[in-house]
Amino acid sequence: MSDSNKNVYLDDRIVTIYANKTKLYEPEVTLFAAIKDEVAGQPIFDIGIGTGRTTPFLRELSQDYLGCDYSEKMTRYCQQLYPGVKFATVDARNMKEYRDGQFAFVIFSFNGIDSVPPDDRLAIIKECHRVLKPGGLFAFSSHNIEKPVYGAFHLSNIEFTLHPIRLAREFQKYFTGWGHHLKNRKHEVFTPDYTVRNDNAHNYTLMHYYISKANQVKQLQSFGFEEVRIIDRKGAWTDATTPDTTSSWIYYLARKRRA
Ligand SMILES: C[S@@+](CC[C@H](N)C(=O)[O-])C[C@H]1O[C@@H](n2cnc3c(N)ncnc32)[C@H](O)[C@@H]1O
Repeated sequence: MSDSNKNVYLDDRIVTIYANKTKLYEPEVTLFAAIKDEVAGQPIFDIGIGTGRTTPFLRELSQDYLGCDYSEKMTRYCQQLYPGVKFATVDARNMKEYRDGQFAFVIFSFNGIDSVPPDDRLAIIKECHRVLKPGGLFAFSSHNIEKPVYGAFHLSNIEFTLHPIRLAREFQKYFTGWGHHLKNRKHEVFTPDYTVRNDNAHNYTLMHYYISKANQVKQLQSFGFEEVRIIDRKGAWTDATTPDTTSSWIYYLARKRRA
């Protein structure tokens, strides 16, 4: 898996797509309700902010807020949308700008952590652990390996409509997706612990990491996280052993071991 995903997040059309998303997803409503008392007024680090969808909700919890993204197009957008709020263009694989134990809550929302190659994803978890204070909370979502991924050729990629122009656009998008997938599918990786898939995100332009709940919990524990809690796509608390073939992605909330 190369670092080609970054080019997608530097594309103005993709920035516009994220700019139209302003609400929390159901698991985030559950997550924020669970952490709000503990992180109120504490330093919060929001990684992979995109166009700042989570910014107003997290700033409601604490004004001590910092958002970052490795795409300068995204951080520039956030700076314009929320003047006076702190944003930085930073790659989560190396956050040397930030001190050990600087934050009480670190979040990498909406599967951004799955955008990097597998070893780099581990580096991100390590960095998030480092910048958290002992007992601090880390939350992120990640693609669920148990839910089948539909290939580019699957007809579910077409939204059928009686409107001829819209239908023509749907077919154009469908065949463009074929092209992207034919180019990207050779980079797919299948291991017993995780996969890297060229899924339908942004019409098959991205490669994404997929993992099971049980393996994700083990991975977090190996970095010194404990009390790992899990939220399914509908926003319900669940556990690592309950099979889930319907959540396309899953939220994790973990605590850095107290000193
Ligand atoms: C799927 S988008 C989600 C955007 C936003 N969090 C939201 O929920 O709308 C993933 C974001 O993570 C950012 N990202 C991916 N890898 C990153 C990395 N290594 N460091 C910082 N940001 C990263 C991308 O630029 C993109 O803005």
